[in-house]
Order: sequence, then C-alpha cells, then structure tokens
Amino acid sequence: MSEQTIALVTGANKGIGYEIAVGLGALGWSVGVGARDEERREAAVEKLRAAGVDAFGVPLDVTDDASVTAAARLVEERAGRLDVLVNNAGVTGGMPQEPTSVDPATMRTVVETNVIGVIRVTNAMLPLLRRSASPRIVNMSSGVGSLTRQSNTDDPLATGPISAAYSPSKTFLNAVTVQYAKELRDTNILINAACPGFCATDLNGHRGVRTPEQGAAIAIRLATLADDGPTGGFFEDAGVVPW
Ligand SMILES: NC(=O)c1ccc[n+]([C@@H]2O[C@H](COP(=O)([O-])OP(=O)(O)OC[C@H]3O[C@@H](n4cnc5c(N)ncnc54)[C@H](OP(=O)(O)O)[C@@H]3O)[C@@H](O)[C@H]2O)c1
Repeated sequence: MSEQTIALVTGANKGIGYEIAVGLGALGWSVGVGARDEERREAAVEKLRAAGVDAFGVPLDVTDDASVTAAARLVEERAGRLDVLVNNAGVTGGMPQEPTSVDPATMRTVVETNVIGVIRVTNAMLPLLRRSASPRIVNMSSGVGSLTRQSNTDDPLATGPISAAYSPSKTFLNAVTVQYAKELRDTNILINAACPGFCATDLNGHRGVRTPEQGAAIAIRLATLADDGPTGGFFEDAGVVPW
C-alpha cells in the first residue's frame, strides 16, 4: 500500500471543496475529487493536476447508494485505504425558505444531501478509513447550524436569512457528528465538524465576504490533526463554535 496520504473530498469540483483539494494536494497528498458531474469533475482534476496536485476523479453523487458504493470501490482499487474523508458536498435548497411555507420536498432534498449523504459516504468509506494509521473525517457544517448563535439576537447570524431546511440540516449534521465520535471514541478515527465562514461561492450567489480558500483552511486543519487531536467538536478558524 502507498505511503502517500490518500484523501477524498466530496463536492470538490468547485467552491470550498476545490480549495480543500488544492490545500491537501499541496501537502503532497493524493486527492480524490468527488463530484457528480463528469465534465465538472474532469475539469477540476485537470486544473488541480496542472497546479501540481496528485488528483484523481471519483464519480460521486452523495444522494445515490450505487454511486457511493462505486466510489468506495474506486478508492479501494486505487489506494487500498483512505486516510482522510472531507464531507464537503452540500446544498441550500434555494431561498426563501421560511418554515411556515417551506415545501416538504425542499426539506427532503436538503437533508438527503447535507445529512444522509454524509452518513452514506462515511459508512461506505469507513472500512477503508479503518485501514489508515491516522484516519480523519471532516464534516463541512456551518455557523448557521449553531442553535446558540441562531438564538442570540446580538449575533449577526440570528438576523440573517431564515432557512427552514439549510440551517437545521447543519444542526442535524453536527448532532450526527457527535454520535459518530461517541461510537468511534475507542478507535483512532477523529471526526469533527467545520465552519468555513461566509465565503463567496455559487452556494450564496458569491455574496460571501471570505474567499473559498479561506473557508478551506479549517477543513485542512481538521484533516491534519495530530493523533491526540479533538473529536466530536465543531470548529472555525477562531476556535470552537458553540452548538
Ligand atoms: N459558502 C459559504 O459561505 C458556506 C458557509 C458555511 C458552510 N458552507 C458549506 O461548505 C460546503 C461547500 O459549499 P460551497 O460554498 O463551496 O458551495 P458550492 O460552490 O455550491 O459547492 C457545493 C459542492 O457540493 C456539490 N454537491 C451538491 N450536491 C451534491 C451531491 N448530491 N453529490 C455530490 N456533490 C454534490 C456541488 O456539486 P455540483 O457542482 O455538481 O453542484 C459542489 O461541488 C457546503 O457543505 C456548504 O454547506 C458554505
């Protein structure tokens, strides 16, 4: 098996996920570019390779069982194990999104991608992660998933857009992250949730005030934690994010 660290980033064809792939690639790692669209995936792989990253394409729709199973098979055949999984793929479900009028279909789509998708991918990759000496899982969450911040009227997040599906999906993801950490506490797997801050990407019509590269930094930090690092936590650049 290769000595090189092997990572998989979901939704790595653009935005923050792409910059996470750039950052992990700069460490000399081999990076799987998980992406559902062939053209966008191959374009990203090509761009990463041109920048010197040892990138490989992984066809991956996080909402599709067969796609996720095939992705795990591809990583196994290529590398025999996985060291780092970054569950970055996510959707907002579109705005406005008020709880009193939200379409149940929107709720389902957002939870299917942002929560169940993470569980589906994580569980498919776990047998490969268990073969690693220092496995790390990073779940890309958001500060809008913090109930403490959402309900503190002095916090800008509390006065931000109302989102019946997106924000609760990240709260749900945080809760699931804690449960994984509980189950995996006696293993060498560290799993944490990350908040990238408000970054200019397609997700928010490029209204964010940070760059996707800045947003990627916290995920890279959690992907490279030492063996005595935290697990079951929620972090941004400045430190711990309150639940
Ligand atoms: N931008 C922010 O300010 C911000 C703040 C907090 C948290 N986040 C989180 O950061 C993560 C990345 O967001 P971003 O801002 O970089 O958004 P983005 O530019 O819209 O990128 C989202 C990525 O997820 C992929 N994706 C969506 N559904 C998928 C599916 N079913 N299967 C596989 N891939 C899928 C997209 O692929 P396609 O190109 O095929 O659509 C794309 O690669 C998300 O989890 C988001 O919630 C972002």
